Parts: sequence; structure tokens; C-alpha cells
Amino acid sequence: MNAATNVSRQPELLGQTVVVIGGSAGMGLETARRANTEGAKVILTGRDPERLQRAASEVGALSTAAFDATDPAPLERFFRDVPAPIDHVMVAAGQPHYGRLIDMEYEQVRRALDEHLLLMIQVARNARKVRPGGTLLFIGGTGGRHPGIGKGIVSTVTAALPALTANLALELAPVRVNLIAAGFVDTPLSASLLGDELENRRKQLRDTLPSGASWGQPTSPN
Ligand SMILES: NC(=O)c1ccc[n+]([C@@H]2O[C@H](COP(=O)([O-])OP(=O)(O)OC[C@H]3O[C@@H](n4cnc5c(N)ncnc54)[C@H](OP(=O)(O)O)[C@@H]3O)[C@@H](O)[C@H]2O)c1
Repeated sequence: MNAATNVSRQPELLGQTVVVIGGSAGMGLETARRANTEGAKVILTGRDPERLQRAASEVGALSTAAFDATDPAPLERFFRDVPAPIDHVMVAAGQPHYGRLIDMEYEQVRRALDEHLLLMIQVARNARKVRPGGTLLFIGGTGGRHPGIGKGIVSTVTAALPALTANLALELAPVRVNLIAAGFVDTPLSASLLGDELENRRKQLRDTLPSGASWGQPTSPN
């Protein structure tokens, strides 16, 4: 044990409230787990009520709400009923939608824009209980930074999200609005998208990233 690990510190989010929209799996759940460890009260949402309850017990959630976050009415109700103040809201719902823009069903195009652009606007419009200096945190990605056949929507929202985030940050200040551009993250979503290719992708990243990343390895309990 080195000197640094002996230094005790206060939990970083003691007494704060963290809302995770899409918090029953993947990045949202992992963030909720970390927030709980740092002393935050966490509130989780997701669509599947059983998955949500399992996640809530795991992280000792203060409360949960099961609804489709792209549906404006339940989203508005959720923010109306949630106790104030909220310190941080993370939006981790959604999934990528692939296909040629000219061939995709219009409903799928609309769904993709709902999940990756309109949801963020709706959250911002409803986040009146977020305290000054609190945050809204959105997840974008790196996979659509270049155009490509089949990546039209992903690429479009990748380009639009920074502008959307910056404008919302100006409008909502002193509430902060931030965007994470995630690369590959090993989540249930990645497993369902990659299927049999998941292990190859993990290996490729282990072999090529300078950190020698440990995807698929159990994380240390400490
Ligand atoms: N994983 C990656 O490599 C990666 C990379 C870049 C960007 N992203 C983006 O980051 C976000 C999170 O990804 P993830 O890999 O953590 O996904 P995940 O493992 O599928 O987890 C997504 C979470 O959001 C919930 N959710 C999904 N759609 C929802 C909706 N319409 N309303 C309410 N809750 C919803 C899911 O629960 P229910 O299904 O029960 O609702 C689940 O709790 C997604 O927008 C994804 O596109 C992911």
C-alpha cells in the first residue's frame, strides 16, 4: 500500500442527489453505482421495471420511475414529482440506429432523433429543480465522427450534440451542461450490438490501446 492510498477523503457527492435517465444498465448504472459510493442519493429511470428494480437494489436507489424517456408526458411528470433539489442529471438512455438515411423507416429516423437530440432538449426544459452549479450530462459518441454508409443518423447526432450542449449551457447557466463522447464501452448494449463479435472487439482494443485496456476482465473490488 503506498502513501496515497492511506489518505482518507470525504465522499465527493455526500448528500447530493443524482438522477440517471437510463440508469438500469450500462454506463448509467455504473455511474449510479459510483455516485452511491461517493455518498449521493440516486434516482434511476428506465423502461423495463424489473431490470430497474434490480439496479435500484444494487445501488440502494432512493427511488425509481419506469417510463420511456422519449415520451414527453411521463418525462415531464417525473421531473414534476421528483423531490428538489437535484444536483446532477445524467442522460444515458437510447441506442444507436444504423441504416441508409434514404432507406430507413421514417419512424426509426424519428426514434433516433428523439433518443439522441430531442430527449436532451426535453430534459433541459424540465430540469428546473437542478440547483445552480449542478449539471446535466449527456452521452454522445466517437463512432459517427466521419460519415459512412449506414451511419447517417449516428453521424448527424454526433455533429449536432456539441452545438446543442453548448447552446443549452448558455441558456441554463449557472447550471452546467456537458457532453461525453464515448468510444467503445463494454455494456449490455455493446454485447447486444456485437453479438459473437464482442470478444474480438475486446481483444482488438486490448491489443491496440496504449493502456492495454482490460475489457472483459473482472474489475478489482478495491
Ligand atoms: N456502449 C457504447 O460503446 C456506447 C458508445 C457511445 C455512445 N453510447 C450511447 O450511450 C448511451 C448509453 O449506452 P449503454 O451502452 O450504457 O446502453 P445500455 O447498456 O443499453 O443501457 C441503457 C440504459 O438506458 C435505458 N434506456 C434505453 N432506452 C431508454 C428509453 N427510451 N427510455 C428510458 N430508458 C431507456 C435502458 O433500460 P431499458 O432498456 O429497460 O429502458 C438501460 O438502463 C446510449 O445512448 C448509447 O447509444 C454507447
